[in-house]
Amino acid sequence: MFFKNPLRKRQALGSLIGIVIGVIIYAILPQEPVEGLLSLGPMNVGHENLSCTACHTSAKGNMIQQLQANIAFTVGARKKAVDFGTKNVDNKKCLECHDRPNDRHPTYRFEEPKFADAVAKIDARLCETCHREHNDTRIVLENGTFCVNCHYDLEVVNDPIDIPHSTLIKNKEWTTCLQCHDFHGNHIYHTPEKMKDTISLKKVNDYLKGGDDPFTEKKKYMPLSEEEWKKVVGNYK
Ligand code: HEC
Ligand code: HEC
Ligand code: HEC
Ligand code: HEC
Ligand code: HEC
Repeated sequence: MFFKNPLRKRQALGSLIGIVIGVIIYAILPQEPVEGLLSLGPMNVGHENLSCTACHTSAKGNMIQQLQANIAFTVGARKKAVDFGTKNVDNKKCLECHDRPNDRHPTYRFEEPKFADAVAKIDARLCETCHREHNDTRIVLENGTFCVNCHYDLEVVNDPIDIPHSTLIKNKEWTTCLQCHDFHGNHIYHTPEKMKDTISLKKVNDYLKGGDDPFTEKKKYMPLSEEEWKKVVGNYK
């Protein structure tokens, strides 16, 4: 070899190994998702113009720990890979832009132990149970009948509707709920009282998939745009 001095030789070898490992880490550990490089499904309704970094921020954890965990995953010693360089996108992130104090089904409510049974069927504690990203959709649930998990024993006193809630529930008409009610209660509109005035089931289902909003375009709270979010949250990157 080039180095007569064995110490120099070891130093050179050491540097070489260092450089190789550095290159590998650099190549497989991008700290920010590389925009456009990853071919995921199209963004959800309304999110088409958001930057990746509006939702994906750098993971805190130690890079070496992430690397170890993912090597363990690769060789089969771990069940799940950890987020490489990015933090999991959780409720908190969504609420940075979508805080709606009027939400009639706020996710935190379902942390209460009395909802444990319902949560086992539908985890209403997490936005991602119903809204998943990169799916080109508004709601990932097949249909809107999930109200049954919590409202199966609903009683409405002085029920104003022409076919009372009790009858709808007895007949398991769970598709009708979203024909009159939105879920979060953010739309400004008058809830119908007659079955003939309800939104058609087709329009509801199109809406869930990402189509036009059949309730109204008017809402009490609009989400923050990316520009507003940058100003308010101030943690861009
Ligand atoms: C509105 C928030 C949002 C935006 C904007 C966004 N993502 Fe995501 N992304 C998510 C969520 C939430 C998940 C978790 C999986 C899911 O819910 O479908 C995810 C999952 C991923 C994953 C799968 C790996 C993982 O960590 O689970 C990759 C890769 C990814 N996104 C890359 C991107 C890229 C590239 C962009 C920009 C083109 C982008 N994302 C923009 C919210 C977003
Ligand atoms: C940086 C701000 C931002 C973040 C973070 C964000 N959103 Fe959005 N979201 C928006 C904007 C802006 C729109 C478009 C609103 C419009 O077009 O009226 C939107 C639209 C939506 C819509 C469709 C709204 C409609 O009009 O029907 C849903 C559902 C939604 N976001 C859910 C989420 C979820 C779930 C997350 C977390 C994974 C999230 N958003 C993260 C800003 C954000
Ligand atoms: C159990 C299912 C479920 C969960 C959990 C859920 N959503 Fe929704 N979301 C829906 C349904 C159904 C609609 C359509 C009806 C409506 O517009 O309220 C909707 C509509 C929306 C809309 C558009 C209407 C509006 O209010 O402006 C946004 C934005 C939204 N969700 C964001 C979120 C965010 C953010 C979270 C978590 C904090 C979340 N959702 C949790 C089911 C859910
Ligand atoms: C995970 C459980 C859960 C699911 C699923 C659920 N709800 Fe609810 N809903 C609740 C709880 C809890 C309340 C609050 C009742 C109370 O405070 O007495 C509520 C309240 C309501 C209210 C009355 C709000 C008010 O301000 O008076 C309406 C309307 C409603 N839900 C409709 C629906 C519809 C429509 C669906 C399905 C698309 C649905 N809910 C799914 C648990 C749920
Ligand atoms: C024809 C329209 C219509 C249909 C269909 C309908 N509702 Fe209602 N619902 C109303 C009206 C009107 C009220 C009175 C309060 C209001 O204006 O929101 C109401 C009230 C409620 C309340 C509040 C009860 C209270 O005591 O405060 C809940 C919860 C509810 N509905 C859930 C459901 C569920 C679950 C379904 C599906 C089985 C459903 N609704 C179907 C129109 C409807």
